[in-house]
Amino acid sequence: MSTTPDWIMIGGEGPESYNQHSSYQRALLEAAKDKMNEAIYAKLNLELISDRFSVADFGCASGPNTFVAVQNIIEAVEDKYRRETRQNPADNIEFQVLFNDFANNDFNTLFQALPPGRQYYSAGVPGSFFEHVLPKKSFHIGIINYAFHFTSKIPKGITDRDSPLWNKDMHCTGFNQVVKKAYLDQYSIDTKKLLDARAEELVPGGLMLIFGSCLRDGVNMSETSKGIVMDFIGDSLNDLAQQGFIEQDKVDSFSTPFYFAEECEIRQIIEENGKFTIEAFEDIIHPNGEFPLDPKILAVSFRASFGAFLSAHFGHEAMRKAFELVEVKARKEISRIQKAKPGMQYFIVLRKN
Ligand SMILES: C[S@@+](CC[C@H](N)C(=O)[O-])C[C@H]1O[C@@H](n2cnc3c(N)ncnc32)[C@H](O)[C@@H]1O
Repeated sequence: MSTTPDWIMIGGEGPESYNQHSSYQRALLEAAKDKMNEAIYAKLNLELISDRFSVADFGCASGPNTFVAVQNIIEAVEDKYRRETRQNPADNIEFQVLFNDFANNDFNTLFQALPPGRQYYSAGVPGSFFEHVLPKKSFHIGIINYAFHFTSKIPKGITDRDSPLWNKDMHCTGFNQVVKKAYLDQYSIDTKKLLDARAEELVPGGLMLIFGSCLRDGVNMSETSKGIVMDFIGDSLNDLAQQGFIEQDKVDSFSTPFYFAEECEIRQIIEENGKFTIEAFEDIIHPNGEFPLDPKILAVSFRASFGAFLSAHFGHEAMRKAFELVEVKARKEISRIQKAKPGMQYFIVLRKN
């Protein structure tokens, strides 16, 4: 059993919340919308659109991006139905949306913000998406937005100072091959479990639509802007330890449960798993480029995503101070971020075999 706290977003709708600081993740949904519509039109069997149509969002957080994602999907399904049957989908189809995330995700904020006038029924599905969370053949299209880089735990040895696998950095920078292999192995095991579970829960012919970010082949994480900011977070925690604000031991044994894979690694994992066919793997040009190049926005948006996890390890005050330092570092080194190697935003369409 892992002792790592769940990696959840900062809940609520306050100034630190993911709800207020997730426009970067939302922009990918918008940038890939036309491609998604085309994929649903071309790859979803018309026979699947009847009576009750279920959409499931895995790693939905507390909104509002999940509402954009599911609305886009429902509109694309309705459009296909209308064009191919010349009938009104509202007369024949009921939509259901299943919102999945960890049980301690802020589902209250999510449900209170459900869009008024929505044309779907909703239900929360608590639990880790690496396990089965839904009955067999219970949904038609699944979506994952910016949650396909997580692992179920930190690989063994990574946080242990006495292990040859000890990682003094707080994430997988890509430069230490032993550490990289440990992370990739864990990521591969977990992602195959995720695919196995979704393959059982999807109806035959159902689709998984996966949006997120990965590395271009041969690029190390810390050569990208996102990796550089993660390094700033680790450096800031070290600064706080040196100031005696938090314990150095705790910083040395702190690591993050995710791995940004190279494109070829993602393809290989999906192919080895064998439960899905890759129908599309698109490189999406994100309106913000690789990342917004404003030190404040960078610090605030990373805080919304990393803050709850850091607070669980070091306390809220240390987390807050760490991100103040991240902003200072980002301001000082903005030209390094500007010159970073590009990452990749992707849209993957998987069809259940
Ligand atoms: C960066 S957020 C993305 C949220 C949302 N999909 C969006 O587009 O804004 C990642 C989400 O994945 C969730 N997550 C991470 N690991 C998970 C797991 N094993 N099971 C379920 N949810 C998980 C986190 O709790 C978080 O809400």
